[in-house]
Amino acid sequence: MPPSNSFTLNTIGIVHSCYKEKFGIPRQPGLVTEATARLELIPPYSRLDILEGLESFSHIWIQFVFHACMTENWKAKIRPPRLGGKTKMGVFATRTTHRPNPIGLSVVKIGNIYQENKKTFIDLHGADLLDGTPVLDIKPYLPYADSITDAQGGFFPAPAQIKPVLFSELAKSQCENYENLHKREITTLIKQVIGQDPRPSYLSEQLDREHGITLWDINIKWCARNDHFEILRIENK
Ligand SMILES: C[S@@+](CC[C@H](N)C(=O)[O-])C[C@H]1O[C@@H](n2cnc3c(N)ncnc32)[C@H](O)[C@@H]1O
Repeated sequence: MPPSNSFTLNTIGIVHSCYKEKFGIPRQPGLVTEATARLELIPPYSRLDILEGLESFSHIWIQFVFHACMTENWKAKIRPPRLGGKTKMGVFATRTTHRPNPIGLSVVKIGNIYQENKKTFIDLHGADLLDGTPVLDIKPYLPYADSITDAQGGFFPAPAQIKPVLFSELAKSQCENYENLHKREITTLIKQVIGQDPRPSYLSEQLDREHGITLWDINIKWCARNDHFEILRIENK
């Protein structure tokens, strides 16, 4: 009997992350190390014994659903932003979110594993996950098996170049006030996120155009200058 070609998978947890919208989320994990998130395991998986031993690993694989792209169709050919949006590649040669099965895969550094108000959490560092992302599975990252040092990276040989990010006097003082008030670091997070140049490729030549990105409960207004990005101000969401 041929295997069934559709399966039911269960969500084991939900990600709570600093990224409240897709725009601005780095294209892979580990690029914005300052980004914090936590994975909340949901019943019946919300228990510590199910995670026993995981604390001895530094990273986990997270398999998740691109839930914010569920209504968008997949395409056989994709224009990877890394190629300037000009060249098309086969969907299975890319890490696009628009896939036949909207499943994502990320290696993420873990922090504390704990329970709070009867809920079970794993702290995550440097994830590329939207707030609310449903998680299907987690597995320990095994360097001896998962790290192929002589692997070929195709047209994604290395991370994109980081651009310098400067803050206006207004933005600098607003960030200081926010950090003092909320005891939450945002200056480095903003630098790392904007330094990735989140603009879609068709806007990458445009200077002085104002953009906005939402991180936690603030909207960051910024623009591209000749050789750097400038943070103009931050606004409460
Ligand atoms: C290029 S994908 C790569 C994701 C994963 N590392 C992979 O390779 O499967 C990264 C992008 O996915 C998008 N993304 C993250 N979480 C998402 C979600 N829950 N639903 C839809 N898109 C999401 C963000 O815009 C992020 O920049």
